[in-house]
Amino acid sequence: MAAPPPEKGAHGYFTTAGVFSDGAIDRGSALLADALPSKLPGRMADLGAGWGYLAAPVLQRDGVAALDLIEAEALSLACARLNVSDPRAQFHWADATQFRPDAPYDGIVMNPPFHVSRTADPGLGRAFIQSASRMLTPNGKLWMVANKHLPYETTLSECFRNVDIIAGDAAFKVFHATKPQTKS
Ligand SMILES: C[S@@+](CC[C@H](N)C(=O)[O-])C[C@H]1O[C@@H](n2cnc3c(N)ncnc32)[C@H](O)[C@@H]1O
Repeated sequence: MAAPPPEKGAHGYFTTAGVFSDGAIDRGSALLADALPSKLPGRMADLGAGWGYLAAPVLQRDGVAALDLIEAEALSLACARLNVSDPRAQFHWADATQFRPDAPYDGIVMNPPFHVSRTADPGLGRAFIQSASRMLTPNGKLWMVANKHLPYETTLSECFRNVDIIAGDAAFKVFHATKPQTKS
């Protein structure tokens, strides 16, 4: 059965059945958006961009020249194309753990997936962290939100020299990581 076409929900964004946070803004993503600084680096990416919620908060920040939205689900990316019309945005239908950008990014935001089908799998989030560190410049910066119970600290400190928790609530934590260490 085909998914219904994207429709604008009460939150003002196009989504459709089956995409992440269909019909509602994810609380973790909103927390990440609020935790972003007023100025961001020039060349940004969103790994696992979904229907594009994080694009507007990123593109509203000073200093952003380009934003790549990288998403593996075609339907989510189709919604993102409807939601994000800023010419600085580029859309990539790709596996974020394999994607090789034309040039490294100065900054990455992400709310990584933690399910493969319906099974919780923090391995996918870890692969996103490793990928982010590989895609960033030596001075690149990562902002990432995750459910509080997910064990990402070890991978973050293997992949980045500095890791801080900059925001959070009872369910989520927002990390800021700098100085990526893995280059392969
Ligand atoms: C937790 S959601 C976050 C979506 C969006 N960034 C937000 O904040 O609302 C994670 C997204 O990653 C996508 N995803 C899962 N595996 C992926 C992969 N290997 N490469 C790229 N995107 C992937 C999912 O389809 C989903 O849209």
